[in-house]
Amino acid sequence: MFDEKDLILEAKHVTRRFPAAGGRELLACCDVNLKMYHGKTLGLVGESGCGKSTFMRFLVGLDRPSEGEIIFRGRDITKLRGRDAWENHQYIQMVFQDPSTSFNPKMKIRDIVCEPLLNFGRIKRSEKDAKARQLLAMVELPGDFADRFPHNMSGGQRQRVAIARALALEPEVIVMDEATSALDVSVQETIIELITRLQREKSITIGFICHNLGLVQSFSHQIAVMYLGNIVEVMPGENMAGICCHPYSRALLDAVSIQRWTSQRK
Ligand SMILES: Nc1ncnc2c1ncn2[C@@H]1O[C@H](COP(=O)(O)OP(=O)(O)O)[C@@H](O)[C@H]1O
Ligand SMILES: [Mg+2]
Repeated sequence: MFDEKDLILEAKHVTRRFPAAGGRELLACCDVNLKMYHGKTLGLVGESGCGKSTFMRFLVGLDRPSEGEIIFRGRDITKLRGRDAWENHQYIQMVFQDPSTSFNPKMKIRDIVCEPLLNFGRIKRSEKDAKARQLLAMVELPGDFADRFPHNMSGGQRQRVAIARALALEPEVIVMDEATSALDVSVQETIIELITRLQREKSITIGFICHNLGLVQSFSHQIAVMYLGNIVEVMPGENMAGICCHPYSRALLDAVSIQRWTSQRK
């Protein structure tokens, strides 16, 4: 599907079991094999609870698989510990669905966007203001937003701040977990436009989790469909309707057409 020399991250046979009631096991990811390519977006779709977040959390070290490996920069990142794991955060960053829960409400936007840079010693405290303004400009927010607190902004503006913060370290990969799902449809579109522009300019690889296939389809280079912990199909982003063959992928596509049809009737 893509040039193998652009392969940047590869998940091999990744499985995650969680203990469940009655001594049973819940298989949240089951032998997942996925590839991510330089400067391209991998859209991961599937119904709620199918294991999308579980998988993407491995990439940023928030959890570890029970089996399998994820190769990035020549190493299995699921085995990184201590300083190596910490340093890996520079290369893979994550944006969550609700930034208000990941931001400290007592911190000003200036401190929020610059925190990763200070943690990694990339800037001095005296450079913080200029850097914050530069990062805000990158996500099309006015520089004086640096003085605001998260609760003084709209959901869309907060998500722009989350993107600026994730991009501050100039990572190679960004994982977005339902990053636009809580936003109004019109705001969703402007955030997708922003992400697409930034990806083009900076050649970032994006892992985009979403349960809305219509949205994922609009800008993903490859789409992986997940069902009950299994990747049932991986296909190119364009012309998915003509390519996909798994019944679950078709059901997701049909759901998009039904949504479109009902919204047209309104
Ligand atoms: N820490 C955990 N402990 C036990 N079960 C979990 C844990 N995290 C996720 N799960 C279960 O794993 C499954 C997949 O969850 P998740 O990856 O969050 O799905 P998705 O992001 O696709 O909605 C769900 O059944 C969920 O309840
Ligand atoms: Mg999730």
